[in-house]
Amino acid sequence: MNINIDLGNRSYPIYIGADTSGNFPAFYKDQYKNRKCAIVTNNTIASIYSSYINTLKTELGCPVHTMPDGEKYKTINTWSAILDDLLAFRLDRKSVVVALGGGVVGDMAGFAAACFMRGIDYIQIPTTLLAMVDSSVGGKTAVDHPLGKNLIGAFHQPTAVWIDTDFLKTLPRRQYVAGYAEAFKYAFIGGGEMFAYMMNNKDALLRAEPEPLLESIRRGVRIKADIVSRDEKEAGVRALLNFGHTFAHALESYYGFEGLLHGEAVLWGMLCAVELAKVSGALPPQHWDALDRVMDGLPLPPLPSPPEVSAVYAAMFADKKTELGELRFILPILPGMSEVRGGVRERDILGTLEKVLHV
Ligand SMILES: NC(=O)c1ccc[n+]([C@@H]2O[C@H](COP(=O)([O-])OP(=O)(O)OC[C@H]3O[C@@H](n4cnc5c(N)ncnc54)[C@H](O)[C@@H]3O)[C@@H](O)[C@H]2O)c1
Repeated sequence: MNINIDLGNRSYPIYIGADTSGNFPAFYKDQYKNRKCAIVTNNTIASIYSSYINTLKTELGCPVHTMPDGEKYKTINTWSAILDDLLAFRLDRKSVVVALGGGVVGDMAGFAAACFMRGIDYIQIPTTLLAMVDSSVGGKTAVDHPLGKNLIGAFHQPTAVWIDTDFLKTLPRRQYVAGYAEAFKYAFIGGGEMFAYMMNNKDALLRAEPEPLLESIRRGVRIKADIVSRDEKEAGVRALLNFGHTFAHALESYYGFEGLLHGEAVLWGMLCAVELAKVSGALPPQHWDALDRVMDGLPLPPLPSPPEVSAVYAAMFADKKTELGELRFILPILPGMSEVRGGVRERDILGTLEKVLHV
């Protein structure tokens, strides 16, 4: 299955399938001929997939840069070490970086490719559900800064994305559920048909049943591809992809980026967004039942500790979506459709946090 991101001469294909990683070397040789490549991965993937990486090394003759595993290594120092290796590997302007890993590896390798010799091509081979449905597509690359996540980066689109759901067989369950959140969010922004699809398949997707898994990824990626094609640099409609994220970022920051994975925070954030849509009047009452039913049974993780609502509220003002000090939320207005809304009353936001987080 092939989905295209339509960005003029920077358009690229996204291949989605199961058990397809063995075909990647043939694809590379066919499409990229004898252009030199280097793999960027992390030590966890390098150990689980050592035989696959050896195959890539043998068939494509590509060296490997292995970074340490974890968001805490998503730094300018790690990025610099990748660039050191790309130079040591004698890559040139025609060379290609192949990112093999989750969102951290993809963002780092993408940012290295964006800067190496003023920008070279890269291919994403995502290995987490979050990276498959979200981070590998769309060209946002970045590293974190002590003052905040993803503060230093660039828009740099990959030239291909190769999604093989078989990688998910080794993904820890907690990481799978975190990725599930990013797949599930498309129910709120992808139109009525996607809403109905997720309503009917959310449990099968949570169980990682192969066909609903593939189909949810296809549908999610198609929605993201369409949004990115229309608004590459997030001047408008791309903000919808942040559904639930205003609350999620505040929760992550409140807990000091520990104890709650990003996707887990997004699950709570989506619940808050639906509640706020109800109390603020964005979502007409006749749709409340449909939204409640789609949220029913979400795999909500426990919060690390009972949150102090006023502090979570204060943390919201650091969000990148804040404009001139005003909070902006992506709120559902119909099943499958959301809008960016400002001007939401403080008491509605505080009431939402109080109700949803103090369960
Ligand atoms: N660029 C974007 O548009 C975008 C969008 C969303 C998130 N992100 C970024 O993505 C990052 C989060 O990505 P993530 O959730 O994939 O986290 P991650 O990359 O840290 O991966 C999660 C964990 O799973 C391990 N792992 C990965 N694949 C595995 C596999 N197949 N089997 C076993 N273990 C595996 C990793 O080594 C890691 O320990 C954040 O840094 C976030 O900022 C970027």
